[in-house]
Order: sequence, then structure tokens, then C-alpha cells
Amino acid sequence: MSDNVPAQIVPADGEGIAAAVAALRAGALVAVPTETVYGLAARADRDESVAAIYRAKGRPDFNPLIVHVADLAGAEQLALVDARARVLADAFWPGPLTMVLPRREGAMVAAAVTAGLPTIAIRCPAHRVMRQILRESGLALAAPSANASGGVSPTCAAHVAASLGGRVGLIVDGGDCPDGIESTIIALRAEGGWQVLRPGPITADAIAAVIGQGGDAPSSNRIEAPGQMTSHYAPGKPVRLNALTADAEEFHIGFGAVAGDYCLSADGDLAQAAAHLYAALHAAAASGRARVAVAPVPDAGIGAAINDRLRRAAA
Ligand code: TXA
Ligand code: MG
Repeated sequence: MSDNVPAQIVPADGEGIAAAVAALRAGALVAVPTETVYGLAARADRDESVAAIYRAKGRPDFNPLIVHVADLAGAEQLALVDARARVLADAFWPGPLTMVLPRREGAMVAAAVTAGLPTIAIRCPAHRVMRQILRESGLALAAPSANASGGVSPTCAAHVAASLGGRVGLIVDGGDCPDGIESTIIALRAEGGWQVLRPGPITADAIAAVIGQGGDAPSSNRIEAPGQMTSHYAPGKPVRLNALTADAEEFHIGFGAVAGDYCLSADGDLAQAAAHLYAALHAAAASGRARVAVAPVPDAGIGAAINDRLRRAAA
């Protein structure tokens, strides 16, 4: 696809969803809304389609993709779902939990999806539009966040158009993403423990309440999310954290009593702050200010995920 044909943005009505399903079946890239962030989706079973995702994002090929499925049965076709994973699926699917599981032998997934790993990351999303696309297409969809690699994740259709513009033909506009921060990624270890590879809307405490504590991973066989690069979510200018005040050259992202230029949540509500985080970073990037300052955000609950993203934005 040419880099200078602007993406077509369609509403998430019957016609828009039908267009997305047809394009995905034909092997094309489509940007789709999920409850976390917009995804850049393609059918997971086709080499060329998956290669097009990496190309459009400028994503390093060692960084594997999450595969989205309609239900647990869809997950079982691609991965070995053990008893713990089934309990987690019962508790949190559909929803913002991604499980890294052993890849099933013969799974119909392009090799590039898993970047050579014996594991596969699977998520069953909750967003109405994404669920309808998964059901109607009958496909498993590989979908990273719909932004250029290393940039700020998109939480509305305009963010996708600004970041990927002519590199995606179709954007399904489902409005603002309600959670606003990427799914929690958890690795279940064969020996019984588990670890959070990326904090997200579902907290480690909520997971522990369902399957017990994870225990410390022996350092020799720690499983890493290869995409959890130190520098990520970068607005393209220096970011300073824990800033109660800001100078004239700084775009100030506020929280609670710190109003700033863009307040994540005047009420100090962490879920609301998560939903506004990427919009704030996009606004900071688009502003005329040379630098960004961010007010302190408590680390409780989803605050851990917000601070994880902010640390990477500042790195
Ligand atoms: O909320 C989300 O998860 C969004 C929406 C679109 O679903 N997707 C998303 O994808 O955040 P992406 O590509 O931006 O992040 C995927 C992360 C990367 O850090 C990658 O390294 C990790 O998942 N990952 C994928 N497969 C893995 C595997 N087999 N083992 C460990 N980490 C894996
Ligand atoms: Mg991403």
C-alpha cells in the first residue's frame, strides 16, 4: 500500500464492520477499537498479512504479537490452555488480560506472530466492535497497538490516523477506548508460578485473588515480554516525572489537585486517569512546548500500569 493514500475512517456500524471483516478476510490491515487501545489487526494465519503489520509499524521482528480470539475455544485452537488459564479466562475474559501460553503444535498462525518463541500471547477482548469483527470474520487476529513502533498508543481513531496515516487502509471508529491502557500480560510458568510481564487494567492482586500468588521467577528462566523496551510510548520530547509544578516550556500533565495543562483526573480517579493518559501524551506531543512534565500518580491499582507507561515515556 502506498504511504500517501489517507486512511478511510468508517463508523462502527453494520456497514463499517462488514467492510472491516471483508478487508481482514482478504488479508488487509484494519485498525480496530478495543477496550484498551486501538489495534492494527490482520489475520494471524497469513504470512504476508502479519509481515504487513511489522512493516506498517516499523516494528522490530523479534517483538511478537498478541493474537485476539472470540472465545476460549478460539484460544484452545492456538495454545495449550491449562486449568489455571481456564480459571483466569473464566474470571477475566472477555477483557483486558493477555495470557502467554505454550503454542499448540500445528496452530494455524504465521511464524512471525510469535517471533520464534515456543509461546503465544492470547487475548479475548471485550469491546463490542472488536468482538463482532472476531465473530463475523471467524478469524484469529494478530493486533499490536495501532501506532508507529515506540510511539504513543492510540485511544481514538484520530490518533491512529495521525500515527499510521497512509499505512493502514481502513480505520473503524469506535470512539474513545474505555480502559485507555494496554492489556495486562501474564506468563503462566509450567512449574506453577506466574508473573506479570506488563501491568495493565487487571491488577496482579486481582489475578492473585483467583489463582494465588505468583511466586518469584528463578532468574535463569525468567520469561520476558520482548516488546517491553525501556523507551516506549515516547511523545518525541523530554518527559519529566513527579512534577508538582512546570515551567513555561513544559506541557504539564496534571492529576488530582495538580490541574496542569491537561488533567488526567481532577477527582484523582485512577481509572479515569488511565483512560486519559495517551490522549494527554498526544496533546503534549502536539503542543508548542519543548518538554513535558507529569504530576505524581499514585501506584495503587491501575496506577501501577500508568506509572509503568510514564517511566517508559520518560526513558
Ligand atoms: O491491549 C492490548 O494488549 C493491545 C490491544 C490492541 O489488544 N495490544 C497490544 O499489543 O498492546 P502490542 O504489540 O503493543 O504489545 C504486545 C506485547 C509486546 O510487549 C510483546 O513483546 C508481548 O506482548 N508478547 C507477545 N507475544 C509474547 C510472547 N509469546 N511472550 C512474551 N511476550 C509476548
Ligand atoms: Mg504497543
